[in-house]
Amino acid sequence: MRKKIVAGNWKMNCDLPQTQSLITDLKTGLVKEFNCELMIAPSFPFLYPAFNSTLETPIEVVAQNCCEADKGAFTGEVSIDMLQSVGVKTVIIGHSERREIYGESDELLNSKTRAALDKGMRVIFCCGEMLEERKAGKHVTTVADQIKNGLNDVSAEQMEHVVIAYEPVWAIGTGETATPEQAQDMHAEIRKQLEELFNNDVANNTSILYGGSVKPGNAQEIFSQPDVDGGLVGGASLDAQSFIEIANAF
Ligand code: G3P
Repeated sequence: MRKKIVAGNWKMNCDLPQTQSLITDLKTGLVKEFNCELMIAPSFPFLYPAFNSTLETPIEVVAQNCCEADKGAFTGEVSIDMLQSVGVKTVIIGHSERREIYGESDELLNSKTRAALDKGMRVIFCCGEMLEERKAGKHVTTVADQIKNGLNDVSAEQMEHVVIAYEPVWAIGTGETATPEQAQDMHAEIRKQLEELFNNDVANNTSILYGGSVKPGNAQEIFSQPDVDGGLVGGASLDAQSFIEIANAF
């Protein structure tokens, strides 16, 4: 059975007091059992305080990125061992902002993915097309290549620890959400790609999240699509009430 997941990618937002306040508000809102896993991804400096503040809750603290190297002369980087030492067990890899702003290539993202999986981490692997690729009808090929290249040399067994997040770049932070049909169509294509790359079990058992302007008002319709297993939420995750309403969409 595929896991249902709602994850909040806080990006480069919230200092320590804001992190603590948002987590307090989230904990206040945890008044019922959720039908999904809940994750939050604060920035690096706040992972440990967030981990400690959510110990007694169903909220998992997730990293937004990691270095592929084990340790050493990589100024400014954060290793997987460091993340695991502060209780983090899941890492987002390949977000479009890492790809577009910081030039992270498919090859680098594949190295990060394999390094994280080799160390027993769960990986949320991001993919998604640019607007011009969709307009040119290249969106399926683009996403298929990102997945093929990003998951190169990952085994079918390791795929049990991989979640895919499809985030059309043109829907990120724009308020322009993909239609439920667009999301479902691409998620179905991703499942087809996973079957070709791995096998039917991997295709059926891998959770595929949608990201790109998920809000309380559109979450239910998107999450009700057969191949959508939850959301990777940006802006709306910075408001506790909105994030909880989105999680309640399951
Ligand atoms: O990783 C999630 C993020 O890219 C989506 O952002 O603000 O469109 O929900 P947003």
